[in-house]
Amino acid sequence: MNQQTDRLIYLDHAATSWPKPQSVLDAVQEAMVRQAANPGRGSHRMAVSASRVLFDARKALAKLFAIANPNDIALTFNTTIALNMAIKGLLQPGDHVVATAVEHNSVRRPLEYLRRTAGVDIAYVEADEQGAIRSEAVEKALLANTKLVVVNHSSNLLGSIAPVAEIGTITKNHGAKLLVDAAQSAGILPIDVEAMGIDLLAFPGHKGLLGPQGTGGLYIHSALTLEPLLHGGTGSQSEAVQQPDVRPDRYESGTHNTPGLAGLAAGVRFVLHETVEKIHNKEWTLSQRLMEGLLRIDGIRVLGPELGKPRTGIVSFIIDNADPSETAFILDQHYGIAVRSGFHCTPLAHECAKTTDTGAVRASVGYFTTEADIDALIGAVAEIKRHY
Ligand code: ALA
Repeated sequence: MNQQTDRLIYLDHAATSWPKPQSVLDAVQEAMVRQAANPGRGSHRMAVSASRVLFDARKALAKLFAIANPNDIALTFNTTIALNMAIKGLLQPGDHVVATAVEHNSVRRPLEYLRRTAGVDIAYVEADEQGAIRSEAVEKALLANTKLVVVNHSSNLLGSIAPVAEIGTITKNHGAKLLVDAAQSAGILPIDVEAMGIDLLAFPGHKGLLGPQGTGGLYIHSALTLEPLLHGGTGSQSEAVQQPDVRPDRYESGTHNTPGLAGLAAGVRFVLHETVEKIHNKEWTLSQRLMEGLLRIDGIRVLGPELGKPRTGIVSFIIDNADPSETAFILDQHYGIAVRSGFHCTPLAHECAKTTDTGAVRASVGYFTTEADIDALIGAVAEIKRHY
C-alpha cells in the first residue's frame, strides 16, 4: 500500500466543505479585525458595520434562494437548529406530520421527541433502495390534520434527490406547510422557494455554501409565524417582556457568529458567481467518474441512484467483507484520503439501502475536487479490496 502523502485528498464535503474560497477566508479575517463589535446592539460605527455583515449575508442568501424579503431568513448556527426551530415552532399536540424514509436524525429526533411529549403523529413515506421518494406516496400519506410535510432534498447517505417542486404543489393544494432540509442541496441544486412551494427552508452555511462552520439559517414564509425556539435579547424592543414579533429578531436571540456570517456571505457570493448549475454539473460529473471506477472493481456495492441518474456528489459504497470504518481508517492513514464511514446520522436511509448491519463508506465531492482526487480514491479502494 502507498504511504500517506502530505497532501490531503478531501472527499468529505457532505459533512463540511473544504477548502474554502480565498474570499471566504479574507472576509472572516476582515470581520475579526474591522467588524468585530456586536451586531444589532449599540449604534457606534463598529456595531453598525457588524450589522452590515448580517445584512449582506441575508441579502446574498435571499438572492440565491429567490426569497423576496431577506428578513424572512433567520440566521442560525447550523441546519439542526434551523430544523428544530421549524419543527418545534410549528407543530402542536394533535397535529400530523409527514416525513420521508431518508430523513437525517436532525429531523427524525425532533419529530420523535414531539411524538413522545406532545402526541404529534408521524408518517414516514417509503423510499426505494436507491432513496427515491414518489410524490404520489407523499400525497397518499396526507391526512385532514397534516400540518407539515418534511422532505430531505438530498439524502446524505444516498445522494438521491427528492421531487420537491411536485411535493410543493401537493402541500399547497392540501393546505399543509412544506419544510425542506437543504443540508445537502443548498448551493448544489437550484432552490427557488416560491416556485417550489417551500414554506420553510433549513440550510447549512458550511457545506455547499462554502462558509465556515457555525453558520446556517431558516427561511420562514412571511405568512407563517413560528413559536421561537429561543427567547432572549434581540437588541430591539428591550422594554417588552415578550419576544418581539418583528423579523428576523423574533428568531435570533443572542449574539451572532458575525465572522462566520461574513465568510458565509462571501461563500454565497462565490456560488452566485460560479452558478449553482455549474457547481452541480461539475459535482455530478465527478460522482459519475467515481461510480464508474468503483463499479469496475469486483465486490464493491455502490449505494444510491444508478449510474447516469440524477444525484448530488455523494457516493457511498461497501467493500464485500470489509468493515467501512476500517476502510475509512486505511484510506486516511495510508492514502491521505478523507471520507466518512458508519451510519451518517441516518439509520432510516440505511434501512432503505439495506445497510443497517454494515453501515457504509461515504465519499462526497465538492467544487474543488479534481479528477485526480477521484482516481486516487478508486486506485486505493482497488488495492484495499485485494486484501479481503
Ligand atoms: N450531517 C452531516 C453529514 O452527513 C454532518 O455528514
